[in-house]
Amino acid sequence: MTQHTIIRLGHQGDGIAEGPVFAPRTLPGEVVSGTLNDSQLTDVRIDVPSDDRVAAPCRHYKSCGGCQLQHASDALVADFKADVVKAALSAHRLETDVRPTLTSPAQSRRRATFSVKRTKKGATAGFHGRASGVIVEVTDCLLVDRALLPALEVAKALALVGSSRKAEMSVSATLSGEGLDISVQGGKPLDGPLRIQLAQATETHGLCRLAWDGEVIAARGQAFQTFGAARVVPPPGTFLQATVHGEHSLQALVMEICAGARSVADLFAGCGTFSFPLLAHAEVHAVEGDAEMTAALAAGWRAAGGLRPLTSEARDLFRRPLLPDELKRFDVVVIDPPRAGAAAQVAQIIESTVKTVAYVSCNPVTFARDTAQLVSAGFALEWVQPVDQFRWSSHVELVGKLTRL
Ligand SMILES: C[S@@+](CC[C@H](N)C(=O)[O-])C[C@H]1O[C@@H](n2cnc3c(N)ncnc32)[C@H](O)[C@@H]1O
Repeated sequence: MTQHTIIRLGHQGDGIAEGPVFAPRTLPGEVVSGTLNDSQLTDVRIDVPSDDRVAAPCRHYKSCGGCQLQHASDALVADFKADVVKAALSAHRLETDVRPTLTSPAQSRRRATFSVKRTKKGATAGFHGRASGVIVEVTDCLLVDRALLPALEVAKALALVGSSRKAEMSVSATLSGEGLDISVQGGKPLDGPLRIQLAQATETHGLCRLAWDGEVIAARGQAFQTFGAARVVPPPGTFLQATVHGEHSLQALVMEICAGARSVADLFAGCGTFSFPLLAHAEVHAVEGDAEMTAALAAGWRAAGGLRPLTSEARDLFRRPLLPDELKRFDVVVIDPPRAGAAAQVAQIIESTVKTVAYVSCNPVTFARDTAQLVSAGFALEWVQPVDQFRWSSHVELVGKLTRL
């Protein structure tokens, strides 16, 4: 046994002591002991706990790998996420006002991807265990909205008809306006009998929509999401902000940055999370790489009727970013790229006359990299707001406001 004092949390939420020694589920200031294997401490015992140590609220926490930070107070988790953002900024010598983290409440995830596998006795569904491939049943999960929990039983039923004995299926469940919207990957290939069984399962479980490897098998209602004044039916299994609280927080921040703008480009627009609220005072051009998403967005706009003009374009913004000539008509550019960031688009914004950028990011590292480019070209980073839709995980999102000086 060796003893160590934890000095900080790493990016995965594990405690780190001098060495470095990595000690899972420990907190800064704690004195811990355990068996040292290379740099990993196992069989960890907490000798002196932190004042921020709390009893994990979820009964699955010990075995489930879905959450990493339930043993820490909400205040510590919020500060940790703000610190992750600050560290990414300071790596590029960026200084700004980092606002206090906005955290989604427990039981508010409106979408989750469950792993499911057939067993000798039936099927098991849940999240993977901590650092293991074992599926942990999470019947009382405190992350997801309670209305999403029935999806666990649905996932098992679908595995019984549609998965092979050895393979693991991935079942993405989303709360839509008219019930559970289920999208399955990794099941058996579709054939006639399987289609019939899946259509029956849709009825039996009262699903709104069921898709199998991207193909909609049955729909009993409209699997819509509400963005601003529009209802949009996203393609199955597609990107959606994880919680309604997080979505509303991000929308409010984007609206704050775009206040007074008449014409906005919404880049990496998805199905219109930001485009539709922005239509309250601006015309919007939405650009997104996935043509099914832009089709869903356009259909939502047509169905709503009476909204300000919204144009859309399916375009790969890594290979074909909007050019300065195309950008010149916009008062504000909103960018919300995937984890890789938006280097190519940022290079074009620098060459353009765009004065304001609302940058929404799920990766502080690429956000800081792209922002450093903008700042060295004459933009100011006015503020950054961390947004935590993945409470109890080490993940953090953020919005930054950039204006040309
Ligand atoms: C973080 S999501 C944001 C979506 C939307 N803004 C929202 O809040 O719902 C990133 C989006 O970028 C899109 N995307 C990924 N790579 C892209 C590319 N190379 N060009 C254009 N869009 C891309 C994805 O399809 C996804 O919809």
